[in-house]
Amino acid sequence: MSRTSFHFCSLLLAAVLFSLAPAMAQNQAPPPPPILLGTAWYPEQWPESRWEADLTLMQQAGIHMVRVGEFAWSRMEPSEGEYDFDWLERAIAAAAKHGIYTVLGTPTAAPPAWLTQKYPETLRVDEQGHRAEHGNRQQFNFANPTYREFARDIAEHMARRFGHNPYVMGWQIDNEYSDVSFDPDTRSQFQQWLKARYGTLDNLNSRWTTAYWSQTYSDWSQIPIESTYGNPGLLLSWMRFVSDTWRSYQKNQMDAIRAHAERRQFITTNTMGWFDGFDHYTVTQDLDLAAWDDYVGEGHLNPTSNGAAHDLTRGFLRKNFWVIETQPGNVNWAPINNSLDKGEVRAMAWHDVGHGADTVSYWQWRSALNGQEEYHGTLVGPDGAPAPLYSEVEQVGREFAKTGPVLAGTTPKSEVAILHSYDSRWAINWQRHNKNFDPVKEILSYYGPLRAISQSIDIIPPTAPLSQYKLVVAPGLNVLSDGVAQNLIAYVRQGGHLVLGQRSGMKNDDNGLQTERQPGPLVPLLGGRVEQYYALLNPVPVEGSWGSGGDELWAELLSAKSPDVEVLERYGKSNGWLDGQPAAITRKVGKGRITYIGIWPDERLMASAAKWMTDVSGVKPALGPVPEGVEVDPRYGAHDVVYILVNFSKAQQTVTLPAPMQDVLNGGSRSSVTLPMYGVAVISAPLPK
Ligand code: GLA
Repeated sequence: MSRTSFHFCSLLLAAVLFSLAPAMAQNQAPPPPPILLGTAWYPEQWPESRWEADLTLMQQAGIHMVRVGEFAWSRMEPSEGEYDFDWLERAIAAAAKHGIYTVLGTPTAAPPAWLTQKYPETLRVDEQGHRAEHGNRQQFNFANPTYREFARDIAEHMARRFGHNPYVMGWQIDNEYSDVSFDPDTRSQFQQWLKARYGTLDNLNSRWTTAYWSQTYSDWSQIPIESTYGNPGLLLSWMRFVSDTWRSYQKNQMDAIRAHAERRQFITTNTMGWFDGFDHYTVTQDLDLAAWDDYVGEGHLNPTSNGAAHDLTRGFLRKNFWVIETQPGNVNWAPINNSLDKGEVRAMAWHDVGHGADTVSYWQWRSALNGQEEYHGTLVGPDGAPAPLYSEVEQVGREFAKTGPVLAGTTPKSEVAILHSYDSRWAINWQRHNKNFDPVKEILSYYGPLRAISQSIDIIPPTAPLSQYKLVVAPGLNVLSDGVAQNLIAYVRQGGHLVLGQRSGMKNDDNGLQTERQPGPLVPLLGGRVEQYYALLNPVPVEGSWGSGGDELWAELLSAKSPDVEVLERYGKSNGWLDGQPAAITRKVGKGRITYIGIWPDERLMASAAKWMTDVSGVKPALGPVPEGVEVDPRYGAHDVVYILVNFSKAQQTVTLPAPMQDVLNGGSRSSVTLPMYGVAVISAPLPK
């Protein structure tokens, strides 16, 4: 290229860039606030003439995000191949004028009538063989190729239109994945999945021990779907297949969006706390952000179980998450849809942020005038005027705006991890052996007292890296693969303290019995084992270095084989077999330690067991002692730590701070804070040395 032509080309390039400049400038929006208040808004349900009034009220409440579009398929594609996104573009633009960003939901949880009428195979079939009908939602078949084509198509059309819209922050795929299909095609996909996993029928027959009850398969097509009572290997495989199928269902839409959307637009979906209809670690691994729908239902917020569900969701991608739906006062689906008390919605919002939520979004803004959820809580009434709760949410909006700059970039950090596995939860639930043995309750029985002491806990899968934790607790790690066993052994060898709870290490990766007694491959490290387990009719007494108390639901008779194993608790008089036998044991291994707890301790005993676990592991409270009922939630930044304090007790409480700290909500420096019931404090201090 000659000098002149080079010069000409650069001039041309400069001219092109210059002409693009206004478009690029237009294509930018100021970054959204770091801590967002949001709401679900369904503009398609209202005349456009109403939008402005709603958006004005939202802006006034400090709302900066709306979730739009998630059930609006029949509005976006009124008939096959005929699309209408103009109204959506106008809605996004109208919101933007009020400083409100949009998260677009793909509408695939609610297929239009024309689609399922013309392609009935896109409707799911339940386990009894009934095909779903139009008129509700979630009637689609998650494995059906035709449905996936339509889902991909609508997601792609949305992404082409809005993938560069500066006020579209991100995407939500579908809504609350839950209902699966048992139609013949899904069954043959399952059989193909099994073939890919097991290779040969001989291998599958042997790993599932199908010689039992003459279940031996001589052809892949003979394998049924069982979801509740069946061969344990088959049951676990079905749930793994379901998880992989939800993942590919989601990926189908994600790929369509990714091909057309700017990378800054995140992709998420809304999950449901402890719901176990699929393995959330499998499904969420492709997402940019984890998000969940946090509903109290009947009663009042239980900070322990709700906090644990936050920590569970934070553990999906091991980073901050969103509360993408939460209840403005009450729901409509509980047996009694009582309202949260005055002040409780605000306390809940801060409890969310304390556990690592960067967004709290209310479902929903206003009830559709006709529709299945007319009675649900909202922020404005059917008359379009603020509901009583609106002013409390407005306060949250002001507080998020004020504290956002300090909370930006902060995240919870913990010295304690609780291991959680869907395989283990399913395995226990399919064969509870004691009907009251609920694996989530088992997790919570540890979580409550450990959280009260440490003031921060991570809930993570057993495959996660563990070296950052001083204490790792696996309450019911029933299914223990060799890979996970190696992860746990390495953790103890490098100096960590591993605590195993009841039913740990009983099953292999096919949900078959380990050929060693519990905890299977960890027996050599423990220097002891479970000789026998017993489902209990009544609590049995135990006593030892944690004090005396009761063992509920389940008892495991332990033995200490190595001389360096210490017996922490023993059973009192019980069924004869257990009398005087070890109930909890521990062993130091180099700088590390492994403990096995064979009992389900009553509350008082668990509190003292938790104290022992944290003392022996060197776990310290994040802030320091606080009165009972006050929750401490630390979020750490590069230089500072922000402590969110929420008073969930019925009485006013005063918290003495370990040193004077900055009051982020009210300004000034404080040595103590006094909180009324549901009171909140946000204070910050330099990172502890
Ligand atoms: C779920 C759904 C919402 C709404 C709420 C009501 O979380 O995702 O669309 O139905 O429940 O509580």
